[in-house]
Amino acid sequence: MKGLILSGGRGTRLRPLTYTAAKQLVPVANKPIIYYVVENLASAGIRDIGVIISPETGGDVKKALGRGERWGVRFEYILQQEPLGLAHAVKVARGYLGDSPFVMYLGDNLIGCGIRDFVEKLDETRSDAVILLKPVPNPSSFGVAEIDGKGRILRLVEKPKDPPSNLALVGVYVFRPSIHDAIDEIRPSARGELEITDAIQRLIERGGRVHSHIVEEWWLDTGKKDDLLVANTVVLDDLIKRRIEGEVDENSTVTGRVELEKGVKVINSVLRGPIAVGEGTVIEDSFVGPFTSIGSSVRIEGSAIEHCVILDGAVISHVERLEDSIVGRNARVHRNRERHKALRLMIGDDSDVEL
Ligand code: G1P
Repeated sequence: MKGLILSGGRGTRLRPLTYTAAKQLVPVANKPIIYYVVENLASAGIRDIGVIISPETGGDVKKALGRGERWGVRFEYILQQEPLGLAHAVKVARGYLGDSPFVMYLGDNLIGCGIRDFVEKLDETRSDAVILLKPVPNPSSFGVAEIDGKGRILRLVEKPKDPPSNLALVGVYVFRPSIHDAIDEIRPSARGELEITDAIQRLIERGGRVHSHIVEEWWLDTGKKDDLLVANTVVLDDLIKRRIEGEVDENSTVTGRVELEKGVKVINSVLRGPIAVGEGTVIEDSFVGPFTSIGSSVRIEGSAIEHCVILDGAVISHVERLEDSIVGRNARVHRNRERHKALRLMIGDDSDVEL
């Protein structure tokens, strides 16, 4: 069994963060989303993993993942020149996949469970494909499945106006090589992409067996700002343990599940977990509330923040209260103490400022 991680796409809904990094590299609880994907594939026993990359962000993805030693896997990078759809990505990877069955995993999806049982279902049910599903309140935003009482897929539709069920395709699929013939028979959708949903529907029409597996735990699609904050909250809540490697001075209080990496300095401050803080960050005269991730080499001084994601190298200085916010790499948010009432901004393209 091989793995195929899709890490192309332009990440337009997460701009401006995605001007400088692939959306799959945006951190959740201080770890790039794609690391969770690799961990999940590796713990299902998958060792050979193809990574689909785009010309725009492929270099960064390669740098972040390397050759795979740290997870005990081997990566092969496969360039998709243009984002022409998920089924197109499989076409591009055809040579790498050969006649092997494979798990295809969208690199910006986070799920709160392993995938071993799901992968084993391919043989157990003697199917051509197994797809992961999750009931959602807004099925029209996703691929949607109609299933029978035994979990067999009857029909699939991509982003239907009138959804036949509330079961969304999560973006993790197991395929046998029979999917390649089905892909050869489909045409681009209205959005100009070769949809994997259409290819699986074609597989069913050709007489293939397609089974489903329902995710009982959480599933997070990290496409937009609020999704990313929710993902951060859920992952911090689920995975963070108390681990203090940095220094906390005697005037500070650090309560609950807080992760302070090496070189962190907490001075005259109050921290209430769950919180993750990356290497070399300094927090001084501040309050940091629950569900906050702070990257490496960040400086927070004279401020109160809560439910935020602060990326590497950012500075938050003398801000009375910052909530529900994402602050990008090396960005600075600071109070102009001379001119209290005037706002002075230098905001990048597609930023969102709420006052
Ligand atoms: C893609 C798939 C869709 C699936 C979704 C999961 O949509 O086409 O079927 O439900 O991923 O995240 P896209 O993110 O390309 O709109």
